[in-house]
Amino acid sequence: MAISTEPRTTPTDPAPSGSSQGEHEPVGPTRQAGPVVGGARSRADGPPALLVDRVTKRFVLGRRKKVVNAVDDVSLRVARGEVYGILGANGGGKSTLIRLVSTLLTIDEGRIEVFGHDVARDEMAVKRVINRVSVDAAFFKKLSPYENLVYAARLYGMPASGVRVEAERILARLGLGRSRLGEPLEQLSRGMQQKVAIARAILTSPSLLLLDEPTTGLDPRSKLDVQAFIEELREEHDATIVLTTHDLAEADRLCDRLAILDRGRLVVEGTPDELKARVRAEHGLSPTLDSVFMTWTGRSLDDDIEDEPGDEDDASLRTKGGG
Ligand SMILES: Nc1ncnc2c1ncn2[C@@H]1O[C@H](COP(=O)(O)OP(=O)(O)O)[C@@H](O)[C@H]1O
Ligand SMILES: [Mg+2]
Repeated sequence: MAISTEPRTTPTDPAPSGSSQGEHEPVGPTRQAGPVVGGARSRADGPPALLVDRVTKRFVLGRRKKVVNAVDDVSLRVARGEVYGILGANGGGKSTLIRLVSTLLTIDEGRIEVFGHDVARDEMAVKRVINRVSVDAAFFKKLSPYENLVYAARLYGMPASGVRVEAERILARLGLGRSRLGEPLEQLSRGMQQKVAIARAILTSPSLLLLDEPTTGLDPRSKLDVQAFIEELREEHDATIVLTTHDLAEADRLCDRLAILDRGRLVVEGTPDELKARVRAEHGLSPTLDSVFMTWTGRSLDDDIEDEPGDEDDASLRTKGGG
């Protein structure tokens, strides 16, 4: 896997169509600040891959100007090489946090640093080292997977030669065969499109890969393919990954550490095993992530926060959890 750390030239922003919210993936060439990523997980040297320090983001909703703390005084730290999971029900604040890290939203309070770069003061430096895959990725839908990947690669200043080979290699690892590479993207299933989105993000070798619900809504086969691929990336130790999910088994399988975000608040954090051990020791519950989630949020992961009583009158003004 070519998660390189070579400096590349500065890109311009692409604006491919297709995102329901008019957002596009923040792109930029990979430039590693400081020491090379890779080797042992949780390296102590250099700044952390991600530092979130007492961050709050509010939205004002509806005619009654109801204030929602989508992210509420959240602090966390992700080490280089770690796979860090953010678990939460719909409406919990996962995507908002990811968007704050990706510089797509401004922070109301607190600060975020990516490899030591402040997202507010040094937006371009942050964009160069991250890539985000959202539930609803933006693509040129009339172009093929291969053309979309070449476009992205060029924006990052990657030489065209070699892109095809690398793109095919990554897509093959994701279980997307060569024969589909030339078809317009709009003709591919959502699972396949999601694989192309992940391939595109990996192709540009981000130092910090943000995966916002990478498997939500995928068919079972694609879901397994994507999970296996993330697991491979994890074993290779050379990317730092922050992924959000509301799939407990996925979080358990893929993440070195987990945080649970509930109504914007980070209610607990730890390795899956630590959290399971705690629910058993402190609450006498079975050591599963289901018990963990119930214990710290008081709800099941299937409960949709946005559907709770009292929220109905603003429902039409609310954005969906994806994007
Ligand atoms: N652009 C926005 N404008 C207004 N409210 C928003 C916006 N984005 C998110 N929210 C609200 O913030 C809260 C957290 O949403 P989100 O971060 O999408 O949660 P999740 O990704 O965990 O489902 C929800 O109450 C949601 O309605
Ligand atoms: Mg979301």
